[in-house]
Amino acid sequence: MTDRPKRRSPAASSGRSRRPAVNPPAAAAAGEASQPFTSVSDRFFRQLVLGMRNGVLAVTRDGRMAAMNEVAYRILDIAPRPDDLGRELSDVLSSQPDIVRILSAAFDLAHLPNRAELRLKPSGKVIGYTLSRILDDKGQPEGAAVFFKDLTLVEQMEERERLRDRLAALGEMAAAIAHEVKNPLAGIEVMAGLLRRRIPDVPDAQSLLNDIISEVKIANAIVLEVLEFVRPIRLQVERTSIAQVLHDAVTMAERKVNRGGVNVTMNIQEQLPLFQADHYQLCQLFANLVINGLEALDGKGTIAITAAQGVEYQEPAAMPGGRDPAATLVVDVVDDGPGLTPEIAERIFNPFYTTKPQGSGLGLAIVRKIVDAHDGHIDLTTALGQGTRFRVTLPMNAGEDWLQ
Ligand SMILES: Nc1ncnc2c1ncn2[C@@H]1O[C@H](COP(=O)(O)OP(=O)(O)O)[C@@H](O)[C@H]1O
Ligand SMILES: [Mg+2]
Repeated sequence: MTDRPKRRSPAASSGRSRRPAVNPPAAAAAGEASQPFTSVSDRFFRQLVLGMRNGVLAVTRDGRMAAMNEVAYRILDIAPRPDDLGRELSDVLSSQPDIVRILSAAFDLAHLPNRAELRLKPSGKVIGYTLSRILDDKGQPEGAAVFFKDLTLVEQMEERERLRDRLAALGEMAAAIAHEVKNPLAGIEVMAGLLRRRIPDVPDAQSLLNDIISEVKIANAIVLEVLEFVRPIRLQVERTSIAQVLHDAVTMAERKVNRGGVNVTMNIQEQLPLFQADHYQLCQLFANLVINGLEALDGKGTIAITAAQGVEYQEPAAMPGGRDPAATLVVDVVDDGPGLTPEIAERIFNPFYTTKPQGSGLGLAIVRKIVDAHDGHIDLTTALGQGTRFRVTLPMNAGEDWLQ
């Protein structure tokens, strides 16, 4: 349901096969490989282990925490405490019992898993991990360590690639059909119009012909949307003001759907810099979100649009030192409408998925395509009866343009 790839990183795009090997440091921590380095201090080994760009977590035989690096805290969503070292691991990781279980099992397993995967609760993050035992001088296990990496981004990228392949095939077919259907539709509309003029005195026929013409118009709008969806995006990038984009988008949306009593509010952080983007495409994107909001609200409620600057941490493996914040633009489109069940929410970005009698199901597919083309991502938060929030995060790649 969420779609958060990006900041193209070599590690993320190289797929799973090249996950960093974590065995050497594990061996070093175990003391086995330490002979060649006898001149190196304990502090050196500590830094070696804790400074790894994977999550590192070690436990002693009696279940106390022996090491946990910053990446591990971050991936596991745990706030570090100064007295964590030496605490019962099950206390420190009370929110992650699965990790505690895996580490305890490391003392008993005959073969330790290399490159296993685990989905963390409740965040849903997927981690890839390797286990190792830490041996004392007699070769007895005195501790166990787990080395892990957040694979969520990799997983999502793979999923997106599969989707892209499916869309490419679907898109070609849809484009061909849309093209074929467009001309006969135009013909029907013109002929119905002619007929309407020929028989001005037959009210029954007039009303039927009006119905035919309005149905044709709906079909035509769907065909146009299909063509819009399948057309490859070529971005016309220019220095763009997000405030202008959002104003234009709301105007565009209100031209398509009657606002009724819906209150549309806009709250845009002051002094937002201009950024490089395709103004027209972004208008389409936000207009589609506002249109959906208006349709969901059906004449009553509020759509709140906010825009602010944000910061995003890149995928850890891609950045030296672990963090490389990139400036982003975060735009929320929030409505207090009916919201969605998780089952529906999972499908709404699929092309042709619609719950509306006359919907095309392409609005959000187009939204996603435009977001992708801008190297951004879109997240959905919704629950039945709780309204819906679409959060679009766009990279602010024109960092030097700090102009209003
Ligand atoms: N703000 C929203 N509130 C509730 N449901 C929404 C909202 N936005 C989208 N949806 C759901 O997602 C579906 C797909 O939306 P979309 O791709 O724009 O196609 P369409 O609007 O033609 O149905 C909609 O039919 C609706 O069920
Ligand atoms: Mg729509």
